[in-house]
Amino acid sequence: MLHRPRRNRKSQVIRDMVQEHHLQASNFIFPLFIIDGNAKKTEVASMPGIFRYSIDELLREVESCMNLGLKAFDLFPNIEESLKDKTASESLNEKGLYLRAIKEVKAHFPEACVVTDVAMDPYSSDGHDGFVENGEIVNDKTLKILADMAVAHAKAGADIVAPSDMMDGRVQYIREALDAEGFTQVSIMSYTAKYASAFYGPFRDALESAPKFGDKKTYQMNPANQREALIEATLDSQEGADFLMVKPALAYLDVIKLLKDNFDLPIAAYNVSGEYAMVKAAAQKGWLNEEKATVEKLMGIKRAGADVILTYHAKEVLKNKWI
Ligand code: PBG
Repeated sequence: MLHRPRRNRKSQVIRDMVQEHHLQASNFIFPLFIIDGNAKKTEVASMPGIFRYSIDELLREVESCMNLGLKAFDLFPNIEESLKDKTASESLNEKGLYLRAIKEVKAHFPEACVVTDVAMDPYSSDGHDGFVENGEIVNDKTLKILADMAVAHAKAGADIVAPSDMMDGRVQYIREALDAEGFTQVSIMSYTAKYASAFYGPFRDALESAPKFGDKKTYQMNPANQREALIEATLDSQEGADFLMVKPALAYLDVIKLLKDNFDLPIAAYNVSGEYAMVKAAAQKGWLNEEKATVEKLMGIKRAGADVILTYHAKEVLKNKWI
């Protein structure tokens, strides 16, 4: 035999030498759930180890992440039911939970990168990502709401706004609104290929944001489609996105690879709540090795082509020195 590939696997030093992909703290964005109140830290039942934090607790959590080298955060609010309405108006309340949280994090940790979720669903009495009229999600009326929200986030100090709604034309609409207000340096991380997925279940528990009727199939993509992601990615890049995101990650590794191969923008992948819950539940039952399974799946996402990974595992991976 002239070729024995096993020679390059014969020792740890050689295996490390020829390792093709690496996970680093700088690749991660850590999603954090926030809730109104003080000294509150409530665990999400379907996401062991993940909590909803009141702002004071959030600052403590951000600090401990920063000390581990984890410096990018995506914030998601749990909004009290009584504050929800058709137009998500609470999202523009400067004294409201979300805008205060952004300001506080940036005031205490100016070097942290704050990513904000531009979406109606946590604030919508319909639980949808768009404005609802006669049971329909109305695209163009949603755009203004999203743009106002993005500008409010930018004013509060957001470094990156991330529209997660899947309305048509929203990236350009948001870009123009940000620029008109002087926020030319605020980036847009677009949820480009966001699928209508069962894996968002635990997230909707965390935020109590499940749709009040119907599903999200008229705006989120059909899990059976791959080429359609190219249409979305083409539009988002033309409209001025700075990052293209694929979501979920694990069932869509082919889509991550497809976008990586066809576009020059950085690719983000969202390792979503259900993907976190699966590993946690199996590990709790002793059915798989949590450390190895977690690192393996994150490596798979990286190998597929993700430059940036949004993952609920980020902190534990760094804290436990799994990478
Ligand atoms: C909605 C939004 C969702 C997630 C992020 N933003 C859920 C949905 O579309 O219903 C899911 C994230 C996760 O499951 O971890 N704007």
